[in-house]
Amino acid sequence: MIKKKLVAKPAKPKAKLKPKAKLKPKAKLKPKAKLKPKAKPKSKAKLKPKAKPKSKKSEVLLNIGCGITLFKDFINIDKYFTEEQLRQGATSHTGPCANALYPRGASFLQADMLDLPIDANSVDYIESMEALEHLKFCDVEKAVAEMYRVLKPGGKLVLFIPDMDDMCQVWTERIGSGAPFGPEDFFQMVQMFYGNQKHDGEYHKSCFNETYMGLMMQAIGFEARNIRIAHCSHGQQVPKIRGASASPAWDSKAVLIIGFLLIEATK
Ligand SMILES: C[S@@+](CC[C@H](N)C(=O)[O-])C[C@H]1O[C@@H](n2cnc3c(N)ncnc32)[C@H](O)[C@@H]1O
Repeated sequence: MIKKKLVAKPAKPKAKLKPKAKLKPKAKLKPKAKLKPKAKPKSKAKLKPKAKPKSKKSEVLLNIGCGITLFKDFINIDKYFTEEQLRQGATSHTGPCANALYPRGASFLQADMLDLPIDANSVDYIESMEALEHLKFCDVEKAVAEMYRVLKPGGKLVLFIPDMDDMCQVWTERIGSGAPFGPEDFFQMVQMFYGNQKHDGEYHKSCFNETYMGLMMQAIGFEARNIRIAHCSHGQQVPKIRGASASPAWDSKAVLIIGFLLIEATK
């Protein structure tokens, strides 16, 4: 009797162990874990809206007559420099574009502002700082018309140009004051009238005042109600403009000695 009992007992446990191994597929619960990741995309989805500013980046911004100061996120345009010269000047601080400001995200196009290689109605925003005065008088209107052509309807133009009325006022007031210009001030004024003449693109050939610019821009197509012209009196800090805020070097040098016109116009 005893022998029979001993034989029967060991056989049962073996059979029970196998099914346990088969039960391991507690992994059936894993699918629940797979469901959890559904929660993760929620947080990612919250991050995605931050990408919305990309639409701003997709705006087309021009800096026309950029010289050696390129603006981040802008297509910077100048007739008299090559991209290579600007990059070399920015890194080695030598050459015709020594100390150029070429921030990441800036691009450059060597082109004449009288004939922009840019599609009509394709640009959101244009800044042109101290550039129009380098054109022949008969070409100024053509250049502004080019800017108007490439702007999208609703696009914005910002011009910063010397104000002849203010320049003359400063000059005559100084003469009347009995304290004529010293050599430094005189040379500053001469550069305002004639440009620094360092290269072909740096000669001043045109002058402006509020009345002329207002009428000319209306003749091109800007509506009077969409044009604002401000006088920046001498000694004033240049008002914040979009490209300057991306390029502190431009901003810091921009304490005015004499007056400029700041013109904002929407197409
Ligand atoms: C006084 S710099 C102004 C540079 C820069 N915008 C600033 O405010 O510092 C004028 C620039 O206009 C450029 N320029 C002159 N005529 C031009 C033209 N027809 N097309 C494009 N750029 C021109 C010159 O090469 C020069 O770099």
